[in-house]
Amino acid sequence: MNGKRVKAWLIGAGALAPALALAHAGGAHESFSLVEYLGRFHPVVIHFPIALMIAAAFAELLNLILRREPFSAAARFLVVLAALAAPVAVSLGWAAESTLQFSAEYQGVIETHEGLALTATGLAIIAAVLSELGRRRNDPRLIQGYRVALLAAAVAVTATGFFGGELVYGIGHYRP
Ligand code: HEM
Repeated sequence: MNGKRVKAWLIGAGALAPALALAHAGGAHESFSLVEYLGRFHPVVIHFPIALMIAAAFAELLNLILRREPFSAAARFLVVLAALAAPVAVSLGWAAESTLQFSAEYQGVIETHEGLALTATGLAIIAAVLSELGRRRNDPRLIQGYRVALLAAAVAVTATGFFGGELVYGIGHYRP
C-alpha cells in the first residue's frame, strides 16, 4: 500500500469513529431519563449544604466566644445559603434514590440518610428564618432559637453525610 492510500484509510477511519460514537450516543439517548440524569448530580451538590451548615455554626460559635460582629454577619449569610442549598441536595437525592436499586441490607441506611437529610434541611430553613426575624425584631429569644436550630442542623447534616458515605462505599466503611 502506498503513502496516499494509507492516508486515505486513516482519514476514513478518523471520520468513521465520531460517526459510530454519535450512533451509539443516539442509542443511549432513546433511554434517556431526566430524573436519573439529575440524580447523578447528587454527589456534586451535597458538599454545599454540609459545608455551609457547619461553617455557619462555626462562625456563630466564634461570634458567641469572641463577640465580633463580622462572625455574626458571616453566620447570617451562610445560614441563608445553607437553607437554599439543602432543598436542592434533597431533590437530587430523591432523584438518585428513585433510579438506584439498593439491596435489603441498605434499606435502613437509605431511610436513615433520608430522615437525617430532611431533618437537617428543615432545621437549616428554621434557623435562617429565626436569624432574620430575630435581627429585624431585635428579639433575643428568636436569636437563641436560631442558634439552637443551627447547631442541630450542623449535627444532623454531618450525620447525613456519614450515612451517605455508607451508602456509596458500603456498610462499615468507617470502621478502622
Ligand atoms: C441535605 C441533604 C443531603 C445531603 C447533605 C446528602 C449527602 C450525601 C452524601 C455525602 C452522599 C455520599 C456521596 C458520595 O460519597 O459519593 C450521599 C449519597 C446518596 N444520597 Fe444523599 N444527601 C442528602 C439528601 C438525600 C435524600 C433526601 C436522599 C433520598 C433518599 C438521598 C439519597 C442518596 C443516595 C441514593 C445516595 C447514593 C447515590 C449517590 O451518591 O447519588 N440523599 N448523600
